[in-house]
Amino acid sequence: MPERPGSPTAEARRDELAERLFGSINATFDLAAVYIGDRLGLFRALAETGPSTSVELAAGTGLVERYVREWLEHGAVIGFLLADEAEDALARRYRLPEGHEEVFLDELSLAYTTPMIRAVAAAMRRLPEIMDVFAEGGGVPWSDYGPDLREGQAAGNRPQFHHLLGTDWLPAITDVHERLMVDPPARIADLGCGAGWSTIAIARAYPKARVDGIDLDDPAIAQARRNLEGSGVADRVAFHARDAAEPALRGAFDLVTIFEAVHDMSQPVAVLRAARELLAPGGTLLVVDERVAERFTAPGDDIERLMYGFSLLVCLTNAMAEEPSVGTGTVMRPETMRRYALDAGFREMTILPIEHPIFRFYRLDP
Ligand SMILES: C[S@@+](CC[C@H](N)C(=O)[O-])C[C@H]1O[C@@H](n2cnc3c(N)ncnc32)[C@H](O)[C@@H]1O
Repeated sequence: MPERPGSPTAEARRDELAERLFGSINATFDLAAVYIGDRLGLFRALAETGPSTSVELAAGTGLVERYVREWLEHGAVIGFLLADEAEDALARRYRLPEGHEEVFLDELSLAYTTPMIRAVAAAMRRLPEIMDVFAEGGGVPWSDYGPDLREGQAAGNRPQFHHLLGTDWLPAITDVHERLMVDPPARIADLGCGAGWSTIAIARAYPKARVDGIDLDDPAIAQARRNLEGSGVADRVAFHARDAAEPALRGAFDLVTIFEAVHDMSQPVAVLRAARELLAPGGTLLVVDERVAERFTAPGDDIERLMYGFSLLVCLTNAMAEEPSVGTGTVMRPETMRRYALDAGFREMTILPIEHPIFRFYRLDP
């Protein structure tokens, strides 16, 4: 590509890139420190006991004081924690600044960010296998990423479902909302439901409705069943460990939903076709997937960067683990979704005018 007049010199670009990577290295260490603080219960202990020395925090968590002290000092240096003025390192007290507790610990807050960091840690741990599939083909199954990815994904989306799904997203689709409110009780199938937080949120929002959550990942369904306990909707929700593409799946569902899962599927058209079969006359399929740009643009914005990052390390490798696979990846553009919808026999796909920084909402009518 020809250089434009006035474009930066090679030296300026070199310096800019080196500086940017230096920042990325520090940002990576920030994430590692959050991961440690989350998984070892250090944030929780600090929040519960208030300002603490390394000796007190180590005693309270059963961890080794020298490591706890390094974590505290690092946390204060990067501004995640506050430290008092004590010169003596062992006497210095640390606490969470107001506001940070919500980001690190509040499971229902829309600002809760630690789960996504768990997912990033799970992805980084699989780098050797990811490089192998670059050379040999195939993929890295979702299950190989372990609990950090499964639980990180579920906990990351939980606040969105808890606060927005039943009070904002579904009510915005007026005809669907009205159907879910009335008799005879509506039936809903939530495909690729993971740990079931979306399934449970729908049942909570619509007290007459019966909701089935379906996912092919056995541990996710086991977790979904645990999440259902004590939710108050266990009598109207059932979870099933099975492939959503199975033609055996039959029903008369007024609504079928798929949250953040179409791009992960090796055969999305087969699943969409099965979803279409599940719909009762007048029923609707709602697909919620990433709000990526309409077309490839480089350089891209922060959402595009995030989605390509997850695609490279998780979603594409996961989708390619089953063969054959169409290999969608996280960056599923609206035109790709439209093609899948039409190939699956849907008459129409509409992008719904629901605002969300990360998700785009697709309505598919048979
Ligand atoms: C990124 S997770 C999303 C989980 C959940 N919907 C959420 O938003 O937290 C994608 C899920 O799709 C599931 N999945 C992928 N292909 C599937 C298929 N053919 N049938 C059922 N579930 C599938 C995976 O097991 C995984 O739990």
